[in-house]
Amino acid sequence: MSAVLAIASGKGGTGKTTVCACLGAALSRGGKRVLAVDCDFGFRNLDLALGLGETAVFDSADAINGICDVRDAVIRHPKYKNLSFLCAPQDEKKADFAPASFATLLRELETEYDYMLLDCPAGLGHAFDCAISAADRAVIVTIPQTFALRDAQKAADAIIGRGVSDVRLIVNMVRTRHISRGYSKNIDEIMDTVGLPLLGVVPYDENISAYQNRRMDVMDDESLMSARAFSNIARRLEGERVPILKIRNRRLR
Ligand SMILES: Nc1ncnc2c1ncn2[C@@H]1O[C@H](COP(=O)(O)OP(=O)(O)O)[C@@H](O)[C@H]1O
Ligand SMILES: [Mg+2]
Repeated sequence: MSAVLAIASGKGGTGKTTVCACLGAALSRGGKRVLAVDCDFGFRNLDLALGLGETAVFDSADAINGICDVRDAVIRHPKYKNLSFLCAPQDEKKADFAPASFATLLRELETEYDYMLLDCPAGLGHAFDCAISAADRAVIVTIPQTFALRDAQKAADAIIGRGVSDVRLIVNMVRTRHISRGYSKNIDEIMDTVGLPLLGVVPYDENISAYQNRRMDVMDDESLMSARAFSNIARRLEGERVPILKIRNRRLR
C-alpha cells in the first residue's frame, strides 16, 4: 500500500513542484519506491523539475480515458531507479473526468509504490479535487509571506474538510535576515498562523532555480543547504526524528 501524499499550497509559486521533485529523489535514494504524479492539469512542470524534459508520450487523462494502460503512461526515471513519473495532461479539456476516476487510477498502482507524491495545482479547482480525492495525507508548502499564509490556511481547511486529517507544513524559501529584521514572521508564528504541525523548513536558495534552468539536479549537491533540508524532510516522512535545520542563506555558487 502506498502513502499517497498531496503537496498543495493554495497560492502558486510557493515551491510545490520543487518539493515534489526533491522529495521524490530523496525518498527513492533511500530505497523507497516512489511515483511522482503531476496533478497540475494544463500547467504541468514536474517533468522539467525531475529533469525528464518532454519524454512522456501518455498522461493520466489518456489512462483514465482508455487510450493507454496506466503502466504505459508511467515513466521510469533514468537516474533514480526507484522513482517513476506520471504526467499530467497539457490540455485541461482532456481532464474532464470525475475526481473519483483519478483516485481509482492511482489505486491500481498502490501495491507497486511506497509513496505517491501528488504535485497539486495552485487554487482549489478540479485538478486539486482529483488529487485530494486520491490522497490519504497532505503537505502544505508555504512561504513566509502574508498572502501565502492566508492561502495555506484555506488550502489546509479544504483538505481537512475532505477528510484528510494528516496534514503537515513545509515552510519554503526562508530567509533568516527577513526574520531577524522583522520583515517576515518566524517559523513558530507561521505554524501558529497556519495551524499545522511542522514537517520541515527549506532555506531560500538562489541555486534551486539556477540548477533547474540548467537541468541540473539540486539533490546531487549535498553542499546545498536546501538539498539537505529536502533529505531531512524525506527522513521525517519515514518517521525519523531529525532536528530542524538551522538556516544560513548562501549566495549563488
Ligand atoms: N527554496 C527555494 N529557494 C529559492 N527558490 C525556490 C525555492 N523553492 C522553489 N524555488 C523557485 O521558486 C519558483 C516556483 O517554484 P515551483 O516549485 O514551481 O512552485 P509551485 O509548484 O508551487 O508553483 C521556481 O522558480 C523555483 O525554482
Ligand atoms: Mg507547480
